[in-house]
Amino acid sequence: MNFKILTLFPEVFPGPFNQSIMGKALKKKLYTIKTFDIREFSTSKSKTVDDKPYGGGGGMVIKPDVLQKAFNFVKKDLGKKFLPIFLTPSGKKLDNEVIKRINEFNNIIIICGKYEGIDARFVEHNNIEEISIGDYVLSGGEIASFILIDACVRLIPEVLGNKNSLNSESFQNHLIEHPHFTKPQDWLGKKVPDVLLNGDHKKISDWRLKESIEKTKKVRPDLYKIYKKKIKGDK
Ligand code: 6GU
Repeated sequence: MNFKILTLFPEVFPGPFNQSIMGKALKKKLYTIKTFDIREFSTSKSKTVDDKPYGGGGGMVIKPDVLQKAFNFVKKDLGKKFLPIFLTPSGKKLDNEVIKRINEFNNIIIICGKYEGIDARFVEHNNIEEISIGDYVLSGGEIASFILIDACVRLIPEVLGNKNSLNSESFQNHLIEHPHFTKPQDWLGKKVPDVLLNGDHKKISDWRLKESIEKTKKVRPDLYKIYKKKIKGDK
C-alpha cells in the first residue's frame, strides 16, 4: 500500500511510523508514505494557501486552485485506480468496514486539512471521499491520518506475524475482544480464570466468546445490536 499525503505539515511524518510494528513494516516496504507540502503548490509570492470564507465566519479555508495543483501532481504517477480521501470531522465515520474497503487500494491519497477546512468545490470536483475518525474535532487531519494508516497497514497479511491475532481481535464479527491474562497467576489476590489454565481449547474458546458477547453488550450496545442481528441472519 502506498500512501501519498498532502499536508501543510510534512515534517510530522513519518513520526510514529518509524516505531514498532509499523516501523518494521515500513522498513520491509510493505507500505510506503510520501508527503507533499501543499504550500509548495501555491503560485503566490507569499506562498499563500488559504483565504477567508465567503459568507463570513472564523478561520481560513484552503484554496481549491492550490489543492488542485498538488492533487494533480500526486495523481499523475498513479494510473487510474487510486482512492482519494479527505480527513475531516464532517466525513463518514471510520470503522473496520471502511478500513477493509480502503485496503483494496494500492494507492491512497490522503488530504489533511487545517484551519476551517478546504474549499468544498475541490472535494466535489475530484470525487474525494470524506472520512472522520470520530465525533470530536482535532486541530488538523495529520493525527487522523496516523490512525487511518495504522489501522490499514496492520491488515496487510505480512505485517502481523501471528495471523490468529487478526481473526479474534475486536470488531471482527462485530464483537469487542475478550480479556487477556498473563503471569503472575495470582496478582494482588486476583486470580486468572481457571478455564484458561486447563488447556481445554474448546472450553477456552467458548469462554472467550461468552466474555466478548458480555463485554460488547455492556460497553458497546450499538455494536451488540448489529452482532445479534447478524447471528439471527446466519441461522
Ligand atoms: Cl479526520 N480531522 C479532524 N481535523 N478532526 C477530526 C477528524 C479528522 N475526525 C474526527 N475529528
